[in-house]
Amino acid sequence: MSKTISFHLQKGGVGKTTISGTLSCQSAMNGFTTLLVDVDPQGNASSWFYDGELQYELSDVLQGKCFITEAIVEIPTIPNLFLLPTFGIGGGLKQYAETKIADEPYVLQDLVRELSGSFERIILDLSPGLGKLERSALIASDEIITPMTPEVFSLDGLEIFIDELEKIKKNLRSPVRHEKIIINSFDERIRQHKDIYEAAMMGSFEVFKIPVDPVFRKSQERNVAPQLFKQRGKGLKPITLEAIKKIDAKIWR
Ligand SMILES: Nc1ncnc2c1ncn2[C@@H]1O[C@H](COP(=O)(O)OP(=O)(O)OP(=O)(O)O)[C@@H](O)[C@H]1O
Ligand SMILES: [Mg+2]
Repeated sequence: MSKTISFHLQKGGVGKTTISGTLSCQSAMNGFTTLLVDVDPQGNASSWFYDGELQYELSDVLQGKCFITEAIVEIPTIPNLFLLPTFGIGGGLKQYAETKIADEPYVLQDLVRELSGSFERIILDLSPGLGKLERSALIASDEIITPMTPEVFSLDGLEIFIDELEKIKKNLRSPVRHEKIIINSFDERIRQHKDIYEAAMMGSFEVFKIPVDPVFRKSQERNVAPQLFKQRGKGLKPITLEAIKKIDAKIWR
């Protein structure tokens, strides 16, 4: 059975794309046919993993301008990993979201249903915010996992997200699960980070941590998977790899 996960918090820069991309790679490296869908008009996930020319993008599929198969591309360096891209500059997703999606809240759910026959695992990378496009993606998912940075504003953001998600689920009659959070860019040496982790643990969520690791940014600059990035023989820290594997082992059940 196919499973679809969104990593979401309405706050910007908490690691949604980094985590979506890294866990898509991990899943594919473990042999599962995995599709990363770039539902962010910024197109960050697409420019990270795909360096070449793209003919079609997600918004073309949503508007019936091409077949799904024409828009999906294989990621050459990672067997089993596929991308349904969004062009960053000059792309059509922003305009589509502003003009069309208001009338079609289930458009991404319909798309995911169609894709689930071909992919074992689907990850949606969303833009910050809780507009119509993000809502459509959230209810297209089986599970939403919230990435947050170890700061008070992220905790506040989580409270707001929990509240908003309840409303979205009720309005659009969605059973989507929201049971896990990932504290990203975590540094064991910083007291405030530990305090935020402990505060997060007080709730009913299963809480994971991903350490701060400069290789994520470097791998994005070089258009490679973080697991494959090496500079002078060094890649992701062992503790980071361990965290990624631990999260991967838990989220697909
Ligand atoms: N664990 C980490 N350690 C170090 N840097 C990280 C980590 N996670 C993410 N980053 C860096 O933080 C920046 C923001 O990450 P990212 O783009 O994934 O956030 P985002 O939530 O997707 O942002 P947006 O809201 O704009 O979509 C990037 O430069 C990324 O390389
Ligand atoms: Mg992003």
